[in-house]
Amino acid sequence: MSNSKKRTVLVTGATGGLGTAMCKKLYNDGFNVVGNYHTKEKADKWMEQMKSEGFNIKLFYGDVADFDSSAEMIKKIEAEVGTIDTLVNNAGITRDSRLVNMKKEDWYAVINTNLNSVFNCTKNVLDGMIERKFGRIINISSVNGQRGQFGQTNYSAAKSGMHGFTKSLAMEVAKYGVTVNTISPGYIGTDMVMAVPEKVLNQIVAQVPMGRLGGTHEVAHLVSFLASEETSFITGANYSINGGQHVY
Ligand code: CAA
Ligand code: NAP
Repeated sequence: MSNSKKRTVLVTGATGGLGTAMCKKLYNDGFNVVGNYHTKEKADKWMEQMKSEGFNIKLFYGDVADFDSSAEMIKKIEAEVGTIDTLVNNAGITRDSRLVNMKKEDWYAVINTNLNSVFNCTKNVLDGMIERKFGRIINISSVNGQRGQFGQTNYSAAKSGMHGFTKSLAMEVAKYGVTVNTISPGYIGTDMVMAVPEKVLNQIVAQVPMGRLGGTHEVAHLVSFLASEETSFITGANYSINGGQHVY
């Protein structure tokens, strides 16, 4: 990959399972990587671990569910590190339950963190990308946004919404050299998936033709591919990465 210009990538939710793997892969592939964190305690441990492994990656606080917090974070990154070439909208949460039992708070928390966050962060980096005639927006959706999942009306709605956002924005900014794509992972072995009751998870894995959970490095590889210079004609696309769990 030709990253002689050292493109800067911002990964939201960097301290999570997928975010960590993305940061490492992008760093190893020659990008200037900046991460976003939410919980201070988690961020401190993460920084220590990354330093010990030889990764030089700065973390910036931001609640991506909140527009002003996202704007402030991006301003700070631009002042301290420089302009953002690639944004990976990765932060996300689940609050699973059947709709009959779902609390109003769990609906809004999931929509705000998984979907409104995409607006909150993208809106604050887009003008600069358009001006500089280069940008990569990579939205981390889910297989459960493509097909729905029992107990996930909130999450599926948010993740489906990301597809509409991706397709529409891709059309709006194509002529400025800014690409917008979605990745839809299946079940990957992170804390988020490990929170699913074991019995339920075993049933889910049994439906995956590859018979296993995905690895975080497998998704990270796809992120780095989409962040590269050479993917300049790929936009408005959705990449499934699910071990064959959902083919269509
Ligand atoms: N399909 C059909 N019926 C189901 C079902 C399913 N998948 N799961 C449960 N049911 C039925 C049960 O059989 C039961 O029926 P009866 O009342 O007739 O006996 C009824 O629903 C209630 O079952 P529970 O008591 O288990 O329901 P609950 O409300 O306590 O829990 C749940 C439901 C929270 C959705 C739980 O099943 C669960 O956690 N499921 C996993 C959801 C999931 O896949 N989450 C993914 C998280 S990771 C992630 O999201 C990452 C990603 O992008 C892939
Ligand atoms: P994870 O390990 O739980 O990590 C989620 C990250 O998001 C954490 O760093 C978390 O930080 C951060 N976050 C949560 N709320 C935030 C907020 N308001 N502002 C900023 N950051 C926030 O989950 P993961 O599996 O890596 O998931 C990453 C993304 O992939 C999510 O969007 C998820 O929906 C998606 N995805 C995951 C899978 C999977 O199987 N794992 C499959 C498909 C899609 P704190 O913990 O500090 O709050």
